[in-house]
Amino acid sequence: MTHLEIGDLIGYGAVKQVYQTTWHNTTVAVVYVNNRDYINDFLHGLEMLKALGPNKYIVQLIGFCLKDKVYLIEYHPLGNSVHVDEIFIKNNIYDIKKRFNLCVDYVRILEFLHNSPGGKRVMCDSNSLNKTLEQYLITSSLSLILNDVDALPEVGHEGIICGHRELQGSFIAPEQKWPYPTHSYQEDRMPPYDEKVDIWKIPPVCNYFLGKSEAAKVFRYHLHPIHRKCREKYAVHRPSAREVLNFYEKLLQEYFVDKFTLTREEL
Ligand SMILES: Nc1ncnc2c1ncn2[C@@H]1O[C@H](COP(=O)(O)OP(=O)(O)O)[C@@H](O)[C@H]1O
Ligand SMILES: [Mg+2]
Repeated sequence: MTHLEIGDLIGYGAVKQVYQTTWHNTTVAVVYVNNRDYINDFLHGLEMLKALGPNKYIVQLIGFCLKDKVYLIEYHPLGNSVHVDEIFIKNNIYDIKKRFNLCVDYVRILEFLHNSPGGKRVMCDSNSLNKTLEQYLITSSLSLILNDVDALPEVGHEGIICGHRELQGSFIAPEQKWPYPTHSYQEDRMPPYDEKVDIWKIPPVCNYFLGKSEAAKVFRYHLHPIHRKCREKYAVHRPSAREVLNFYEKLLQEYFVDKFTLTREEL
């Protein structure tokens, strides 16, 4: 690792700095810790990459050096999923199916995390829409993969709490909010929750992927029944990632097959 020539900064967050580098004539991403206070999150992220991968849902780990606190992962030039609009416009893609595929990938990733070989994992680093989108990358074949696996606590019998501070904002699930407004936040009095917080966040993420076109507006109507269930106030009433995925996959087959048949009939 010490012989790597470090190239441009690709991105950074609270925990990591990511640069381009060349390794065996291939461009890859080299990941360093950005803030020593988060060294444990950095190391946990590396452990999760090892424990959960390799698979099609998560960025591919190439190598690591624990002594130098650095690792190499596959480089994805299209970057994180905040840039979905730019990416599709630049590539002249106005096909709602390709955008919906990102929603399907997103729910496939959640389904994998909720039933992973490392237990039932929750995507905690997702307190706002932008933060959530930054944790996922768009590959050159326009699929979505999870990149940031630093904050994936396991839901045991007791449930989990994301982070150590009070969470606020309109994006988080209702059960993630401090329920005693007359008292200030105390971590040990915060009721734990489970993976259904990820389900609550599916509709805004998928709507972002679909974009604001007329076709997206029409298509969203077909997602309404399942998205309404994802937004149930009480977590137990929300569907599992598997159930959302079943709905999405059925729609993917039926909605677009119908369109294809129509086009053929018209010909
Ligand atoms: N392998 C990669 N290929 C391309 N861009 C990447 C890659 N890894 C990270 N990035 C960019 O760096 C940003 C920060 O990475 P991330 O793993 O989320 O760091 P942090 O843990 O500090 O939040 C991502 O949002 C993305 O834009
Ligand atoms: Mg991140």
